[in-house]
Amino acid sequence: MPTPQAGKRLLIVHYSQTNQLTRAVDALLAPLRNQQDIELVEARITPRTPYRFPWRFLDFLDVFPESVYMDPPEIAPPNFDPDEHFDLIILAYQVWFLSPSLPMTGFLHSESARVLRGKPVITLIACRNMWLTAQAKMVATLAKRGAYVLDNIVLVDSAPAWSTFITTPRWLLTGRKEAFWKIFPSAGVSAQDIADTARFGRALRNALPSLPAQPKQALLQGLAAARVDPRYIASERIGHRSFLLWGRLLRALGPPHSTVRRFVLVLYAFFLALMIMTVVPITLFFAILLRPFVGERLKTAARHLEGPSGSNADRCTEYL
Ligand SMILES: Cc1cc2nc3c(=O)[nH]c(=O)nc-3n(C[C@H](O)[C@H](O)[C@H](O)COP(=O)(O)O)c2cc1C
Repeated sequence: MPTPQAGKRLLIVHYSQTNQLTRAVDALLAPLRNQQDIELVEARITPRTPYRFPWRFLDFLDVFPESVYMDPPEIAPPNFDPDEHFDLIILAYQVWFLSPSLPMTGFLHSESARVLRGKPVITLIACRNMWLTAQAKMVATLAKRGAYVLDNIVLVDSAPAWSTFITTPRWLLTGRKEAFWKIFPSAGVSAQDIADTARFGRALRNALPSLPAQPKQALLQGLAAARVDPRYIASERIGHRSFLLWGRLLRALGPPHSTVRRFVLVLYAFFLALMIMTVVPITLFFAILLRPFVGERLKTAARHLEGPSGSNADRCTEYL
């Protein structure tokens, strides 16, 4: 496509193992394609050492310390010139262990990340349902690169949390995501939610022509971009703190794939399962018990975490 003269240039950087996030990116970009005044540059992140899918159990656990500490893996140089100008950058990433996935971390720490300097960024997340800490880490990392988050779009598995505790690991470890035993729904973000991501592309198509050089006002408000359930804020905080402790221990034991580290990872797996089965229900129980006292504070915290795009759905009918 020729470079538009007075048009806008968008860079989209993404990675996906199962194509879930790629489908969301495609839905978002569909309304922006073949527009005279919009140029899209798409870059897929390619880790030098690929992450195998479906995961082997120990390989899955073994990426945990580096994910949490955001130790960047090496990636192949993406297919764009980091010194070119882009008006807006979309970073589409998934969450690994409450942190941006390692391929995205690899990009954020690569030479190519200098493309971000001074740029507004729209983050697009597709994950199970725990993304708050990952996005806080993303915002902090982008700030270090001189960029800022203009909007944040979040797609999650809308099935009940108790079922996704089973369906997500089953999907990641076997590749099977279909519904089973009549009680477990299929894993991942629903096809409808992915298709509806097009609403953000339509809103962007309208907003882009008048986009100022360094926009400060979110473009995607009123489109139900990000919803936070106040009940899960505490579990994420507790979970991440314990990840930092175990992560430090495991990193100290050796590099990825080393034998001692793998042995302790098995112990850690039991701890993790125990934590998921206890901490989440316990914090949920206390959240219900304490709701009359801290309910309003949690709601305010949730509204803040939903920013900058928010959960308001006022403009959805216009764009769906
Ligand atoms: C190693 C690993 C850790 C994950 N940790 C989380 C997590 O902490 N929170 C979450 O909501 N989803 C988590 N997920 C699910 C992913 O965010 C994502 O939904 C899934 O891997 C499919 O993404 P993809 O096909 O686009 O790569 C994890 C997945 C993997 C592979």
